[in-house]
Amino acid sequence: MNHRKNNHLSISILFFSLFLAGIFLYNQGVKSLTEFPFSIPHENPLPESKSSVNEQPRTESPVDSTAEDIEFPPESCDIFDGNWVFDNSTRPLYKEDECEFLTEQVTCMKNGRQDSMYQNWRWQPKDCNLPKFRAKLLVEKLKNKRLMFVGDSLNRNQWESMVCLVQSVVGSGRKSLNKIGSLSIFRIEDYNATVEFYWAPFLVESNSDDPEMHSILNRIIMPESIDKHGQNWKNVDYLVFNTYIWWMNTINMKVLRGSFDEGATEYDEVERPIAYARVLKTWAEWVDRNINPNRTMIFFNSMSPIHIKSLDWNNPDGIKCAKETTPILNMSTPPNVGTDRRLFTVATNAIKSIKLPVHFLNITTLSEYRKDAHTSVYTIRQGKLLTDEQKADPIIYADCIHWCLPGLPDTWNEFIYTRIVSGS
Ligand SMILES: *[C@@H]1O[C@H](CO)[C@@H](O)[C@H](O)[C@H]1NC(C)=O
Ligand SMILES: *[C@@H]1O[C@H](CO)[C@@H](O)[C@H](O)[C@H]1NC(C)=O
Ligand SMILES: *[C@@H]1O[C@H](CO)[C@@H](O)[C@H](O)[C@H]1NC(C)=O
Ligand SMILES: *[C@@H]1O[C@H](CO)[C@@H](O)[C@H](O)[C@H]1NC(C)=O
Ligand SMILES: *[C@@H]1O[C@H](CO)[C@@H](O)[C@H](O)[C@H]1NC(C)=O
Repeated sequence: MNHRKNNHLSISILFFSLFLAGIFLYNQGVKSLTEFPFSIPHENPLPESKSSVNEQPRTESPVDSTAEDIEFPPESCDIFDGNWVFDNSTRPLYKEDECEFLTEQVTCMKNGRQDSMYQNWRWQPKDCNLPKFRAKLLVEKLKNKRLMFVGDSLNRNQWESMVCLVQSVVGSGRKSLNKIGSLSIFRIEDYNATVEFYWAPFLVESNSDDPEMHSILNRIIMPESIDKHGQNWKNVDYLVFNTYIWWMNTINMKVLRGSFDEGATEYDEVERPIAYARVLKTWAEWVDRNINPNRTMIFFNSMSPIHIKSLDWNNPDGIKCAKETTPILNMSTPPNVGTDRRLFTVATNAIKSIKLPVHFLNITTLSEYRKDAHTSVYTIRQGKLLTDEQKADPIIYADCIHWCLPGLPDTWNEFIYTRIVSGS
C-alpha cells in the first residue's frame, strides 16, 4: 500500500513535468499584427432595434440593460470570502453547446465527461451578494471599448469564458473570432467592442512567447523587459493580467544575462519568489508609466491552483483530480493543494506599490475548493482529443490545471463583471 502510494506520487511528479511541457500547445494562425483592423469605421452606429442585432431568441428584455435595478456589493464587502452553493436553477450562466467559440480543450461534456454538477455551483460571498449576471448590460458597457486578458493559458481559459458570457446577446454573423500572432480577438460588430487575449505567459519577455511553439522545457525570462509586449496593451480599456503556472515546473527561474535580440544564451538561476518580484516590479512600473486611470481599469488575477494529489483533500482512492465530482465542501479551513503562496504575497505587495488603483482578483482560495472543475481527461493534448486509451490512464493524462467551461472561470468573470458594470 505504502509502496504503491509512493510510486503513485513519483509517477505523478514525473508526468506533471512532461505534462506541463505539452499542455500549453496552442495553435493559432500567424499573421502580421499590422493586418488587424483595430478601428474599423462603422457605418451603422448601434442599432437599438432587436431585429437588426439579433436573429436568435433573447433571454433579456431591453429593460435589463440598465444597471438601475441591480444591487452592487458595497466596496467594504470582501466578495472573495464566501462559500460555494449548489444552485442548478441559475448556474451555469450559459450552455456548453450554445457557445460556438469554446475550444475542444474545455468542452468537457462533449469530450465525454458524464457528471455535470461542476457547472452548478454559485459563489456566494459571506457578507453581500454578487449582482445578477446580465450579458446585455456588460456588452453595453463594452461599447466602443476593448477588454483584454494578458497572460498564460489560464487567462486564455478565462477569456474563452468571457467570450461565451457575452456572445449570447449578439446575433450570428455579427461576431467574429480572429487570431493574429500573440493576439486572439473576439469582436462584436454592432457594439464596436472586442474581448481579446494576448499570450505572454511571464508578462515580461521570455523564450516562451511564441503563441504556437512555446512548449519549451528550459524556460528563460528577461525580468526587466516588458515594452515589446506592453506596446500591445496600450489604449485598452480593461486589462486583466495573470502569470503563475509557467513558474511552477522548476524551483528556480532562469534569468537571461543580456538580451535575446543580441543572441545571449547564458543565464542565472534565481529563486522563484525573487524572480517573480522582479517581474511584477517591471509590470507595476509599466502600469504606472503607461496607464491613464481615467480611461483604463486594471485587474490582476491571483494564482489559479492545481489539484494533483488527492490526499490533499483526504481521498486515498482518488487519481489526481480525475474522480472528483464535487468541490471540497468542508470550507471551514482552506485546503492545502500545494499552491506557492509566496507568490501571492509578492503580487499583493507589487500591487500596493502601484499608484493607480488595481483590482486584485483574489481567486486562489475559492478555486482551491474546486477539485471537481478541471478538464481532467476530457480535453486535448498536443492539439488532439485524448483517445479512449489515454482517457483510461488519468495518472498520466488528466489535466488538473485547466478548467471545463462552463465552469469555474465564469465565476472569476463575475468578479470582473461586478467591477465593470458598477464602474468602481
Ligand atoms: C483572499 O481570499 C481569501 C478567502 O477566499 C481570504 O482568506 C484572504 O484573506 C484573501 N486575501 C486577500 C489579500 O484579500
Ligand atoms: C436540480 O437539482 C435537484 C437536486 O439534485 C434536482 O432534483 C432537479 O431536477 C435539478 N434541476 C435541474 C433544472 O436540473
Ligand atoms: C471603436 O472602438 C475603438 C477601440 O475601442 C475606438 O478606438 C474607436 O474610436 C471606436 N470607433 C467608433 C466609430 O466609435
Ligand atoms: C483624470 O481626470 C482628472 C479629473 O478629471 C484630472 O484631474 C486628471 O488630470 C486626469 N488624469 C489624467 C492622467 O489624464
Ligand atoms: C473540516 O476541516 C477541518 C480542518 O481540516 C477539520 O478540523 C474539521 O473536522 C472538518 N469538518 C468536517 C465536518 O469534516
